[in-house]
Amino acid sequence: MLDLWYKNAVIYCLDIETYMDGNGDGIGDFVGLTQRLDYLTGLGITCVWLMPFYPSPNKDNGYDVMDYYSVDPRLGSLGDFVEFSRRAEERGIRIIVDLVVNHTSDQHPWFQEAVRDRESKYWDYYLWSEQKPEDIQEGGVMFPGLQDTTWTYYEKAGAYYAHRFYDHQADLNITNPEVRAEIQRIMGFWLALGVSGFRIDAAPHLIELRQADNLFERVEDPYIYIDEMRDFLSWRRGDAILLAEANETPDELSKYFDHGDRMQMLFNFWGNQYFFLALARQEAAPLVQAFQDLPPVPSIGQWANFVRNHDELTLDKLSDDEQDEIAAAFAPDRDTMWIFDRGIRRRFAPMVNGDLQLLKMTYSLLLSLPGTPVLNYGEELGIGDDLSLEERKPARTPMQWSPGKNGGFSTAAPEDLILPVVSEGQFNYKEVNVACLRREPGSLLTWMEQAIRLRKECPELGWGQWQILDTKHPSVFAHRCQWQGNVVIAIHNFSPDPCTATLTLKDDLDHCLVDLFKNQPEETVSAPTHEFQLEGYDYRWFRVTNSVI
Ligand code: NOJ
Ligand code: CA
Repeated sequence: MLDLWYKNAVIYCLDIETYMDGNGDGIGDFVGLTQRLDYLTGLGITCVWLMPFYPSPNKDNGYDVMDYYSVDPRLGSLGDFVEFSRRAEERGIRIIVDLVVNHTSDQHPWFQEAVRDRESKYWDYYLWSEQKPEDIQEGGVMFPGLQDTTWTYYEKAGAYYAHRFYDHQADLNITNPEVRAEIQRIMGFWLALGVSGFRIDAAPHLIELRQADNLFERVEDPYIYIDEMRDFLSWRRGDAILLAEANETPDELSKYFDHGDRMQMLFNFWGNQYFFLALARQEAAPLVQAFQDLPPVPSIGQWANFVRNHDELTLDKLSDDEQDEIAAAFAPDRDTMWIFDRGIRRRFAPMVNGDLQLLKMTYSLLLSLPGTPVLNYGEELGIGDDLSLEERKPARTPMQWSPGKNGGFSTAAPEDLILPVVSEGQFNYKEVNVACLRREPGSLLTWMEQAIRLRKECPELGWGQWQILDTKHPSVFAHRCQWQGNVVIAIHNFSPDPCTATLTLKDDLDHCLVDLFKNQPEETVSAPTHEFQLEGYDYRWFRVTNSVI
């Protein structure tokens, strides 16, 4: 059997800048993060995804990189990175890092050299046009409302350059072999420093291999570039992975996996959007349909499931009416909660008013869905957001460690923090923080530790063949995962009302069901159909044991 570590991983995403400040200047850093490794070990996560920590003008939260081979001095040094990576390895925690090579910052020396001298080799690192090409509106501008165009005139260059994202993020020309060689060097560098893989930022745009006459048209087979990346990766480090940010339709997604020779992991944006529709409707059907629509995954492939990430909750694959349903349930004040005409700029706990039972049901689902769960820092506490902040910042406030000053994030003066800590309302740091919640039996944090432990004890969920089970109740989602002769069944009630679900468990007849969360007597499947009494927003995991009555 291949040792595919990511199949049963629990990934934790964090932004160093907002995680833990080790030197009291108001900005999180590697020293602070390293101090928190024991917390992460206790939580049970097995892999940290570090958001961009490279030198950057920081106009897009670090996704505007100006040096791929270094650490932003505000966050530490390369030495601090290596120290962190060593300490993480000691604890069995792997690291994946963001690879942001669809674009560079306009402050990157490549871009600066290009605009200084058109004859330099760096000119062809980017995409230029003498005349302003027609803007592609549909799917062209990624940040509507903040960005007007995909072509911006650069005075010094006397030409327009292409950019899918902000105008300070010039798109790289990956049809240029020299650019591809640069990307390999970057990957090789971080692999040599011990990372276990990369989160590929903006993967669909990265592989828009540009044609001279239509710079946003895909060439016939853009995916061959992923083959190339993967080949390089696997030669350098056999167990390293590519995890793509590709918010695409199911038919497109299969091409990112191909036969297992491209990306190993893809974020499950499709499942995520329909999960929110299911939650808004209190019905399982949208999620059932979404999982049935997903393409089959090759044996080494895996979905990366998530509830929220650091961006807006994108709902672009849903119809306007469906988006309205979700907004009505979770973002009633469109003016402050909605962004880019497609998503919600809130964290999850405030969306559900901190309903603990619903939070646990949701994260139980996340931890049990076919694939690998990805948590965003602070989700284990149910932290809130700050809607007074601009753009996508409300969901990027600092981690809340204690009821002390600045929530224990930093000793700096509050006005010097990189972003304010949530200090008002239901989710304020005095109440929602690690120190308090870890001592509170039944808190989301203590529950999460237990749930993560359970997840790791159930490799069937990450490795197994899965099947969605009919439940004879519209609110209940149930699935069965089987791996190496072992079976786990998970049942989730999307409604606040108690109900009875009736599952057909022919394959498990005469077997015992051991409830993995609750201390309840074992049940025996003594008939082809079996009834489950569920509380509102209940979640149950059962291991099917061989012990026959
Ligand atoms: C996706 C990242 O998640 C987002 O935060 C960023 O703004 C864009 N890519 C551009 O890099
Ligand atoms: Ca600092």
